[in-house]
Amino acid sequence: MEAATAGNEEGRWAELTYEAIAPVYDAYTAHHDYEGWFAELLPALERNGLRGRRLLDVACGTGKSFLPMLARGWDVTACDISAAMLARARAKVGDTVELSVADMRELPTFGEFDLVWALDDALNYLLSSDELEQALRGMRGNLAPTGLLLFDVNTLLAYRTFFAETDSMAELGEGRRVVWRGQAAPDTPPGSICEAHLSVEEDKGATGGGGAQTLATHRQRHFPEAEVLEALDRAGLECLEVSGHGWDGILGKPLDETTHSKAIFIARAA
Ligand SMILES: C[S@@+](CC[C@H](N)C(=O)[O-])C[C@H]1O[C@@H](n2cnc3c(N)ncnc32)[C@H](O)[C@@H]1O
Repeated sequence: MEAATAGNEEGRWAELTYEAIAPVYDAYTAHHDYEGWFAELLPALERNGLRGRRLLDVACGTGKSFLPMLARGWDVTACDISAAMLARARAKVGDTVELSVADMRELPTFGEFDLVWALDDALNYLLSSDELEQALRGMRGNLAPTGLLLFDVNTLLAYRTFFAETDSMAELGEGRRVVWRGQAAPDTPPGSICEAHLSVEEDKGATGGGGAQTLATHRQRHFPEAEVLEALDRAGLECLEVSGHGWDGILGKPLDETTHSKAIFIARAA
């Protein structure tokens, strides 16, 4: 795997976060139902003319967003900014998937793909419209002539609830657990940058031990629908469909920032 060439420390926020949380990522996202999610996303793609079986999974993390596609017989190429996340993906798939460290703001051209996607709010780690446009432009450069792009972003509801709450997310055994402490306000305005601290916390033992070890801080930006549509346009992409879903993953239209937790965008080269 090649090394990422992300910019300065500030620009490397997401990379440093995921390098730190890679060891617990699969544990704290174990409840994410990708099969259920894909049962909604794939028919939506098919309605928009999906054909072929070549997938580029941008910001693939530990592989959760491409494993169900491998099982469906797709040829998968994948990348992520975090080498530690990719190492976990590699441990699951060996050499069957081409995995590269890459920053989606400077996405290389890996080839021509029938489907390019970036799932589970990966784009919310981009902290400005310009970064969003750069990433979308790079994804466009990897599309086959008939290829489709799909991505999700978190809605205001996600920032006003999940990013505003404390949640004990996963038991690691021996009295240790992963704890999420959202720092956002319940009335977070559109376009805000929101943070959440992730820590590993331990029960106090008979000797009074225990405590908390903060692993990293998630920093995400909310992108309102209009801003995403403008970025798609500037990146040379035509938006085909916008929909949303709540915590159940069931797609609905129109997108509603106050009842849907995620917005889903499907696009193609303009
Ligand atoms: C919430 S995880 C989702 C991972 C995977 N797509 C999934 O569904 O499990 C977000 C991923 O985005 C990656 N990421 C964040 N900023 C990135 C960037 N600029 N370029 C590439 N990957 C990035 C992180 O390293 C992390 O693996």
